[in-house]
Amino acid sequence: MSIVILGIESSCDDTSAAVIRDGYMLSNIIASQEVHREYGGVVPELASRAHQQNIIPVVDTAIRQAEIGKDEVDAVAFTRGPGLLGSLLVGTSFAKGFALSTGAKLIDVNHLHAHILSNFLQEEGKEKALPRFPFLCLLVSGGHTQIIVLRDYFNMEIIGQTIDDAAGEAFDKCAKVMGLPYPGGPVVDRHAREGDCRAFRFSKPNVPGLDYSFSGLKTSFLYTLRDRLKEDMQFVEKNIPDLCASLQQTIVDILMDKLMKASAATGITEVVIAGGVAANSGLRNAMTSLAAEKGWTVHLPEFRFTTDNAAMIGITGYFKYLEGMFATQDVAPAARWSPTPAGKRP
Ligand code: KG4
Ligand code: ZN
Repeated sequence: MSIVILGIESSCDDTSAAVIRDGYMLSNIIASQEVHREYGGVVPELASRAHQQNIIPVVDTAIRQAEIGKDEVDAVAFTRGPGLLGSLLVGTSFAKGFALSTGAKLIDVNHLHAHILSNFLQEEGKEKALPRFPFLCLLVSGGHTQIIVLRDYFNMEIIGQTIDDAAGEAFDKCAKVMGLPYPGGPVVDRHAREGDCRAFRFSKPNVPGLDYSFSGLKTSFLYTLRDRLKEDMQFVEKNIPDLCASLQQTIVDILMDKLMKASAATGITEVVIAGGVAANSGLRNAMTSLAAEKGWTVHLPEFRFTTDNAAMIGITGYFKYLEGMFATQDVAPAARWSPTPAGKRP
């Protein structure tokens, strides 16, 4: 008998719903919120309001596109955290209401866990090789930068993480300094393709072990611009492609350096990337060349599964369903929620 999961994602500024049947994606609808663009970042209150407006049409479209009836849904999986509380509340309350009215089971999902397990999504006619345990995951998003060892779907150990800014934040903050629109990561990526990555040098951190730091890079970037602008007021406008290419190369170098150390330290050569920054072309190219050079098996998620989406919540819900890991109606959203709390499975 097949298992149908309705996934709901509302942790930040994307309202998304997806239907997953037996690990296969049937639909994945994402409504992105343009309203934040003019503020240069996500405004929590506006995000909650937009989720409230979007959630019903988004779920309705996901169910129709999957060509199922809502009574066929065995469980509704929703993002419980981490994220913006008001945004999480919309998805959580919707999921509870849906479960109550249809009799579907309720499954709470950790957003970061879901980013990692997005690598297990399958599509009919486009089957791919899935990651094999144990593997290393470089999780790079707007809020997190971590190296995680996965021994099975629910056994995770964070072996390295940022001590300050996340990689996505470094992209976004430096883009803002250059006057580029939010979110800056994809814009930097686009300009970088036209630029010379050796044009400028920015400082790299010196952090022991497998941890990351990006705050020094941000400062170094800011100081370079400040000094050059004193000589030429048009410095930024004239050098956008080279600045973007050099910034991207520095971030990719920092990410890859610790990932290589993690592989050497653990002996694990099966490697996946996940999270919004996993869409970055420089990072993807570096992963592919390293795979060839070091004999790694690398899994790169499709672009549409790198940034926030409900398909990743649905696939995580599917694995939790198989294990009987259900939530109850008294479950509350958690703005801060590590995927690996000591002794607790996500
Ligand atoms: O995973 P995500 O959608 O949301 C969080 O959970 O944080 O990640 C969003 C982050 C943003 O910082 C955005 O700038 C970055 O991912 N991002 C990229 C690219 N696409 C999205 N960064 C670099 N290159 C990209 N192509
Ligand atoms: Zn995310």
